[in-house]
Amino acid sequence: MHHRPHPPRNADFTDKVVIVTGAGSGIGRAAARAFAHAGAHVLGVARRSQTLEETAADHPRIATHAADLRDPHVPSQVIEVATSRWGGVDVLVNNAGATKVMPLGEVTADAITDLFSLNVTAPSLLAGTALPHLRASRGTIVNISSTYGHRPLPGAAHYAASKAALEQLTRSWALELAGDGIRVNALAPGPTESQALTAAGLPETIVEQIKHDEAARIPLGRRGEPEEVATWILRLADPAATWLTGQILTIDGGLDLT
Ligand SMILES: NC(=O)c1ccc[n+]([C@@H]2O[C@H](COP(=O)([O-])OP(=O)(O)OC[C@H]3O[C@@H](n4cnc5c(N)ncnc54)[C@H](OP(=O)(O)O)[C@@H]3O)[C@@H](O)[C@H]2O)c1
Repeated sequence: MHHRPHPPRNADFTDKVVIVTGAGSGIGRAAARAFAHAGAHVLGVARRSQTLEETAADHPRIATHAADLRDPHVPSQVIEVATSRWGGVDVLVNNAGATKVMPLGEVTADAITDLFSLNVTAPSLLAGTALPHLRASRGTIVNISSTYGHRPLPGAAHYAASKAALEQLTRSWALELAGDGIRVNALAPGPTESQALTAAGLPETIVEQIKHDEAARIPLGRRGEPEEVATWILRLADPAATWLTGQILTIDGGLDLT
């Protein structure tokens, strides 16, 4: 991998408390590591403890909590783990998310509920429970959307809709929380190397075909690397980004322009 801009040169998160969901692979793993290297205490969350431990092995300031964020009891447990350990929360990164191929003819209520419970409900419950702590720290929330949060995605419309919901939550929360000095922004990555397609249950030949087609459609000619995305999570969360709120930053090699 030749793209390793992590962490941003100026970002200083010394002793900040950062929660990164979905820290067991891909973008979340890269973000957890970059925050720790920039001085933060990081709580990484995902279901599998083994992959979380691999993330944490990179830096002693990364702690882990293995749990399923679709369980509505889990978000408050996550906030409790972070606050009892470090006394507060400065940054919440709502990164855990899943994609799902679901043509309209195959839609089921359970599949929609399952997708939205992770991509929309969990970020909401995490942000809501973290709120008193974010008020106390004048902290910040970074939601991870997708290029497809504002572009159509035929065949995976509900994934796109779940990310559109997250973008609209971002704007509304930014206004709702501005009086508390809490900044809320979103990052919308394009196709990035990660476990996401495999995790969606697609066979490896289809995954390779999708990756090839995506790279061909991206103006910069390739998919992104998790580190290239993670570095922008740190920039949005940077305490020095004092006047940035309510924004959706797309980082996708130019895909959004096509
Ligand atoms: N990669 C892309 O092309 C791309 C593009 C646009 C947006 N995004 C978004 O970026 C974010 C990160 O994606 P990624 O590509 O880095 O994905 P990834 O490699 O699949 O990582 C997803 C992470 O979330 C965790 N996770 C999944 N379901 C969970 C659950 N129910 N409870 C708790 N943790 C859960 C996974 O660990 P466990 O499986 O162990 O739980 C893993 O750590 C997602 O919101 C995704 O929609 C990705």
